[in-house]
Amino acid sequence: MIKRLWAKLGLSSSPTAASLSTDNIPVHVAIIMDGNGRWARKRGLPRVAGHHSGMKTVKRITIAADRLGIKYLTMYAFSTENWKRPKAEVEFLMKLPQQFIEIELDELIANNVQVRMMGSRDNLPPHTLSALEEAITKTAGNTGLILNFALNYGSRMEMVNAIRDMASDVKTGVLSIDDIDEEAMSSRLLSSGLPDPDLLIRTSGELRLSNFMLWQLAYSELWFTDVYWPEFSEKHFYEAIGQYQRRARRYGGL
Ligand code: FPP
Repeated sequence: MIKRLWAKLGLSSSPTAASLSTDNIPVHVAIIMDGNGRWARKRGLPRVAGHHSGMKTVKRITIAADRLGIKYLTMYAFSTENWKRPKAEVEFLMKLPQQFIEIELDELIANNVQVRMMGSRDNLPPHTLSALEEAITKTAGNTGLILNFALNYGSRMEMVNAIRDMASDVKTGVLSIDDIDEEAMSSRLLSSGLPDPDLLIRTSGELRLSNFMLWQLAYSELWFTDVYWPEFSEKHFYEAIGQYQRRARRYGGL
């Protein structure tokens, strides 16, 4: 395999897909897509225009991730705390999965992408849920990139539910206290079956996790950028992956 060919030839120092090493591509990339509102405000537009533009970035980065050979891409689309936003904004956000699926489903299928959802189905409007279910069902057999939408997702809620589940299993004798370990916990999380993210990207300059995958990110590499999500491009994505490739992951060892 030709590695870092462009870089070796000195053709470009700006991040491109070809400047990345092919043997150290993160398996799972998780993204906190932030800054839609500020992006819109900067342009004198309503906040929802930022979310709409952010939806286009979802497509752009999905294609880029797929081409790089990333296996899992998890995108934080709506948190359990986002219900606190004005009703009109929540309604708009709840229409985006449906819009995205209407526009993109055929192409996702053609590209062998599998759509998944990680979050509580409770309280989701029927149109949001049915669009997602349609995409999940129609792509279930696909073997390419797994595009995992974190929707109505909250990490603390997820962990509380997992602990409740273990307590209930102990009570009924299915699980012994000695069997409670990291694997028992991981297998009860909404991300069960997915490896932990190798890389977390957060846009917009905010330096926090916002109740996102707190358990799963224990040893992930974190990468932050000031760029707002609607203007996050392939170039920024390659920059994040390039930085990831230059880091030494020690998992607490030497
Ligand atoms: C945070 O930015 C962003 C969100 C709460 C929504 C993210 C959703 C998308 C990018 C579109 C999702 C698309 C699909 C297909 C599900 P913010 O509004 O908090 O921005 P701000 O911090 O600048 O106000």
